[in-house]
Amino acid sequence: MNVGIVGLGYVGLPLAVAFCEAGHDVVGVEVDPRKVGALKAGESYIEDVPAGTLAGISERFFPTLRVAELSRCDAVVIAVPTPLTRNREPDLSPLVAATSSIAGVLQRDQLIVLESTTYPGTTRERLVPLLEESGLAAGSEFNLAFSPERIDPGRTDYTMRNTPKVVGGLTDACRERAVALYSEVCDHVVPVSTPEVAELTKLLENVFRSVNIALVNELAMLCDRMDIDVWEVVNAASSKPYGFMRFEPGPGMGGHCLPVDPFYLSWRAREFGSSTDFIELAGEVNQAMPRFCAEKVSRALNEHSKAVRGSRIAILGVSYKAGVGDLRESPALKIIQLLGEAGGEIVYHDDHVPELAEFGLASLPLDEALEGCDVAVVVTAHPDLDLDRVLERAPLVVDFRGVTPGSGVPNLVRL
Ligand SMILES: NC(=O)c1ccc[n+]([C@@H]2O[C@H](COP(=O)([O-])OP(=O)(O)OC[C@H]3O[C@@H](n4cnc5c(N)ncnc54)[C@H](O)[C@@H]3O)[C@@H](O)[C@H]2O)c1
Repeated sequence: MNVGIVGLGYVGLPLAVAFCEAGHDVVGVEVDPRKVGALKAGESYIEDVPAGTLAGISERFFPTLRVAELSRCDAVVIAVPTPLTRNREPDLSPLVAATSSIAGVLQRDQLIVLESTTYPGTTRERLVPLLEESGLAAGSEFNLAFSPERIDPGRTDYTMRNTPKVVGGLTDACRERAVALYSEVCDHVVPVSTPEVAELTKLLENVFRSVNIALVNELAMLCDRMDIDVWEVVNAASSKPYGFMRFEPGPGMGGHCLPVDPFYLSWRAREFGSSTDFIELAGEVNQAMPRFCAEKVSRALNEHSKAVRGSRIAILGVSYKAGVGDLRESPALKIIQLLGEAGGEIVYHDDHVPELAEFGLASLPLDEALEGCDVAVVVTAHPDLDLDRVLERAPLVVDFRGVTPGSGVPNLVRL
């Protein structure tokens, strides 16, 4: 097959690799010329896709800025961003732009699949009219489906191959073609009756995480007041073999998905006169965490007779989660901003993030970051962080990830 992928980011690039490795040719259309240039030079900007992998598919992978190249594809997958506007409403402009450009080159019998996370109804109500501007009819002259992406960047136990893929088509034939497409790269494809079911499935998965993370975060704030170790509580509850699922508290939610996607559903719900109280409340609790954490650092310093103003604060880990360099919506940025505004002298260490241009900061080696610091704050615990060294060298450690030993360690404060 010839497969087209529109948008070569965290979702699109690994997908392109998967189809190439399954023996297909892939046309990757991207609007960012730097990304196309890098890929053509065999350089990767996604940590999960090493340069060696790109070298292995160079005969089959054709990154390009030219959407016209899609005309030779059997199937085209759309994986462009679906962010929020400043008013926290769905911003479909990248999706509309990508779909309109595809409509200009759409061929009879092509299969188009949307993978970008979005509210139920997007594929039918927004993509169909745009694609039909080609003069071709959806469902009969070209096929259309929605299939949500479940990639978890940095994860190695669940990959595209062994993570089931949900697919909903506009018609039965659309669904069957999409099932056949994904069966090339996934062992288990889960067909559902409509694109709307597939769209809402993705949002349920993300809302489920957001709500449960908010629940343990709320508990963490309560435990702080009650002087109970929330990690010990979570560990103990996790010993229950049924009816409980472990979620961890932390400094707040980051990434492109959890802080954003639930609002796609609450926005859509308003159109139907429904409220989504759980979703809104979870968003509020999770968004409050960075401020709570900044205050906890301030209180920890106070216990040591120090003020934030003038203290050297070493932030350890600034990406939104361990093992990746993705900064999108990272709570570390808010914590740095708040502590900086309060007069703290901020330094940071993160091997995955060489610089934070917006703060004029560059990552320091661990020892340099700890040198002379008043407090070291574990915001994101990358797997290679040398915690023994941190505990040994910093006069005070605040741990928001529960990775330090629990009780009995002097100068340690945990979420
Ligand atoms: N990152 C994740 O872990 C993840 C997981 C599941 C689902 N998703 C969803 O997948 C979608 C893509 O997310 P991502 O993380 O890959 O985003 P990304 O920003 O990493 O990649 C999207 C790419 O699309 C490109 N692009 C934008 N408009 C374009 C256009 N008109 N034509 C061609 N390319 C265009 C951008 O330049 C960018 O390189 C989003 O809807 C997201 O919610 C992401």
